[in-house]
Amino acid sequence: MSERSTVPRERLGALLRAMPKAELHIHVEGSLEPELIFALAERNGVALPYPSVEALRAAYAFSNLQSFLDIYYAGASVLRTEQDFFDMAWAYLQRAAADGVVRAEIFFDPQTHTARGVPMGVVIEGLHRACVQAQSQLGVSAALILCFLRHLSEEDALQTLEAALPWRDRFIGVGLDSSELGHPPEKFARVFARAAELGLHRVAHAGEEGPPAYIWGALDALHVERIDHGVQAAQDAALLARLARDRVPLTVCPLSNVRLRVFPDLAQHNLRALLDAGLCVTIHSDDPAYFGGYLLDNYRLTFDALGLDAGHARLLAANSIDASFAAPTDKARWRAELQTVFERMAIP
Ligand code: ADE
Ligand code: ZN
Repeated sequence: MSERSTVPRERLGALLRAMPKAELHIHVEGSLEPELIFALAERNGVALPYPSVEALRAAYAFSNLQSFLDIYYAGASVLRTEQDFFDMAWAYLQRAAADGVVRAEIFFDPQTHTARGVPMGVVIEGLHRACVQAQSQLGVSAALILCFLRHLSEEDALQTLEAALPWRDRFIGVGLDSSELGHPPEKFARVFARAAELGLHRVAHAGEEGPPAYIWGALDALHVERIDHGVQAAQDAALLARLARDRVPLTVCPLSNVRLRVFPDLAQHNLRALLDAGLCVTIHSDDPAYFGGYLLDNYRLTFDALGLDAGHARLLAANSIDASFAAPTDKARWRAELQTVFERMAIP
C-alpha cells in the first residue's frame, strides 16, 4: 500500500504519535528537567548557581555544543543516589511511552558521576531499575548504552569500562560523546576494540560539529554500528555512498542541531536530503530537557518544517526499529504493529 496517498495529511500528527518508534539517541542526563534538578538539589543539599527553575531555564541559550555541555554537566551534579538515577530515568521513560516509544536505548555518562565520587553501581543500578520497571509497567523495552567522554583520555575510558564490568549484563553497548572537535574517534580505538571483545554494541557521536573525517574514523577505527548525528556526512559524496551501501544508521536529532546552531533553523536541516540520498536516517531527541522537545516534538516540528508526509513517517519509524539493537522477535512484532497503525489510519 502507498501510505503517501492513503493517510490524509490532517491525520499526520496522530499518526506520528501512534506509530511504534525506537528512541536511539537520548542522553538520560539530558532528560533532567529544571524542576527535577531543583528537587534533587534540595533532596541532596546541593547548592545551585541559579535562584529558580525559571532562571535555570533562561540560561538554556546555547551558541555551540561546548556552551551546552558546560551547563549540562553542571545540571548532572545534583545526581547522588541510586534513587536519583532511578527517578531521572523513570521520568524520561514515562514521557517516552506517551510519545509512542516502544524501545529506548539510553545513553549514560558514568564518568560525569564517578569523577564526583558516585559509585558506578549506584549509577547503573538506579538506571537499570527504571528500565526493568518500564518493561513491566509501560510495555517499553529499555536498554542502556555506556558512553565515554571524549574530552577525557582513552586511559580513563578503559578504566571506566573495566569498572563497569561487574554490571556487564546491565548495558548493551558503548558510545562516545561530549566535545567533538579536537577529539577524533581514533583516540578511542583500543577501548572500542575491548568493547567489541566483550560482545558490546558500539556507536559514536560523529559529524555533529566535527568534519566527515570523524565519521570515517568512527566507521574504520571504532567499527561502530551506528553514527550518532552524522549530519556533516552531507559534505562528502564518497562518505554518503559508503553509509548508504552499508546501511549505517544516522541517529539525527533535529531540535538539538538547531539549538546548538548546527543549522540555522529546522527548514534548513538536511534530514530530508540525507533520506533522499538513500541513508538509513532516524529521528531522536538527544537532550530533550535542554533542546525544547521530546521525540514526538522532534518528529512533528521536523515534518512541518520540511514538508514530510506519511510515507516519510513510515520510513523513519521502520528505520528506527531496524536500527535498534532489540531482539529480532521484538523487531518483527513492532514492524507488524507499524503496519497495523498505517492500515487503521488510512482512508478506507
Ligand atoms: N552529550 C550530551 N549531548 C551531547 C551531544 N549533543 N553531543 C555530544 N555529547 C553530548
Ligand atoms: Zn547526543
